[in-house]
Amino acid sequence: MADKKAVVQIDDKSFELPIYSGTAGTDVIDVRALGQQGYFTFDPGFMSTGSCESKITFIDGGKGVLLHRGYPIEQLADKSNYLELCYLLLEGELPNHAQYEDFENTITRHTMVHEKIASFFQGFRVDAHPMAMLCGVVGALSSFYHSDLDINDPEQRKRSAHRLIAKLPTISAMAYKYTVGQPFVYPRNELSYAENFLHMMFSVPAEDYKVSPILAKAMDRIFMLHADHEQNASTSTVRLAGSSGANPYACIAAGVASLWGPAHGGANEACLKMLQQIGSVDRIPEFVKRAKDKDDSFRLMGFGHRVYKNFDPRAKVMRETCHEVLKELNIKDPLLDVAMELERIALEDPYFIEKKLYPNVDFYSGIILKAIGIPTSMFTVIFAMSRTVGWISHWDEMLSEKGHKIGRPRQLYTGYNTRDIKDIDQR
Ligand code: CMC
Repeated sequence: MADKKAVVQIDDKSFELPIYSGTAGTDVIDVRALGQQGYFTFDPGFMSTGSCESKITFIDGGKGVLLHRGYPIEQLADKSNYLELCYLLLEGELPNHAQYEDFENTITRHTMVHEKIASFFQGFRVDAHPMAMLCGVVGALSSFYHSDLDINDPEQRKRSAHRLIAKLPTISAMAYKYTVGQPFVYPRNELSYAENFLHMMFSVPAEDYKVSPILAKAMDRIFMLHADHEQNASTSTVRLAGSSGANPYACIAAGVASLWGPAHGGANEACLKMLQQIGSVDRIPEFVKRAKDKDDSFRLMGFGHRVYKNFDPRAKVMRETCHEVLKELNIKDPLLDVAMELERIALEDPYFIEKKLYPNVDFYSGIILKAIGIPTSMFTVIFAMSRTVGWISHWDEMLSEKGHKIGRPRQLYTGYNTRDIKDIDQR
C-alpha cells in the first residue's frame, strides 16, 4: 500500500501519484494514472523504471548486496549448492533433506532428451556458434511436450521448469560435442549436477573420465553465481515474451537470445577474446589507454556493471574460486597472466576507480572456464544454462499473479507525421 505520494504538476493539471515502498530498496512512484491522463513516462534503457513486483532476488548495487529470497549470495555460495539454490528460487524456501532428495531425484531423472533432439543438431553447420544451437534447440523443446503447455496450470508450469533445469546441461554439452565432432554423451544419474555436466562435456567412449572434485565445485559455483539477477535484460525478455502467453520453452529461447549480446552474457566470451587480443602483459598499458579514450570504442570487457557501482558480490566469490582453481591446476598460460595483471592495473587506475568500474563476475568466470578447458564459445552457453532457473522462476512468478498484463511499452515518436504517398516516378 502507498504510504507516500508524489505530486506532479503538468501545465495547469496536478496529479497525485502513490509511492510504494518494498521490503528493501528504492521506493517506486506508480505512474499508471499519468497514462489515463494522456501522458507516458520516457525512460530509454529502463534506467529508472520498475517493471514488476517480485519476491525472488534483491540487489543493492551501491552496497554490493545480492540476496536470493533474502539469503546473501556469499552465504549461499559457502553453505549451499546449485540445486538447493534452484529449489530456493523456484519454491521460495531452501529445501529440507527430504525435499532436497526429491528435487535432486526429479532433476536427475529429467536430464535425458528425446532422441529426436539429436537430429536437430545434424541440421547445423559444424562451425555454428553453440549459442545459435542453444537458441534453436531450446525453442524446439516446445514441440516435444504438447501435453504440458497449459501455462495456467501451476503443476504443468513446474514440470516445464524441472525439464528446463535438467535438460539445459545436456543440450549445452551436445552443442559442444557437435562442434568438436565427438559423439554425444548421455547423462549419468549417479553424478551431481555439476559433475554430470563436466562428464557430458569431456568424457569420450574410448576411455574412462574421472571428474575432478575441485573442478566440479568450481563449476557448481559458476552455476550458482549466475542463477538469477533480478530484472536484467534477458530476464525482462523472458517476462515480456511470457506476458503474451507464449510457452515456457519459447520464452527461455528468447532469454537465451537476449543474453547472447556482449553487454550482457556475452561479456565472458568477449573478455577472453579481449585477453587474446592483448596477448601479453607488456601490451596491457596500450589497451588500458584505449579503454580510457572517449574516441575509441574499445572497452575493457569484464569490467563495469549497470547495477553494481561499488563491487559485484558475485565477483568477490568468483575471484576466490578463480585463484583456488588456478593454484590447484597449476596451469601456465600467458592469457591467465594477462588477466591477473589487468585485474591489478585496473583496480589501481584512477579512471576505473573514479568510474567505479570493477572486474565483474564474467571476468573471473571466463578465466576459470578457460582454466577448466571449456572453449570460449561455450562461456555464454554456461551462463544461459545457469540462468535458466532464474528466468523460469520469474516467468512462473509473473504467471502466478492474478491479472498480469501483456508487456507493452509506449514511445516518444519523432518520425514523420501523416504524409501522402507520391507516385514512384515522383519520389
Ligand atoms: N571499459 C572502459 N570504460 C567503461 C567500461 C569499460 N568496461 N564500462 C563503462 N565505462 C565507462 C563509459 O565509457 C562511461 O564513461 P563516461 O561517463 O566518460 O561516458 C562510464 O564508464 C559509464 O558507462 P556506461 O556504459 O554509461 O555504464 P552502464 O551502466 O550503462 O554500462 C556495462 C554497464 C556493463 C554495459 C558497461 O560497464 C560495459 O560495457 N562493460 C563491459 C561489458 C561487460 O563486462 N558486461 C558484463 C556485465 S556483468 C554480466 C551481466 O550481469 O549481464
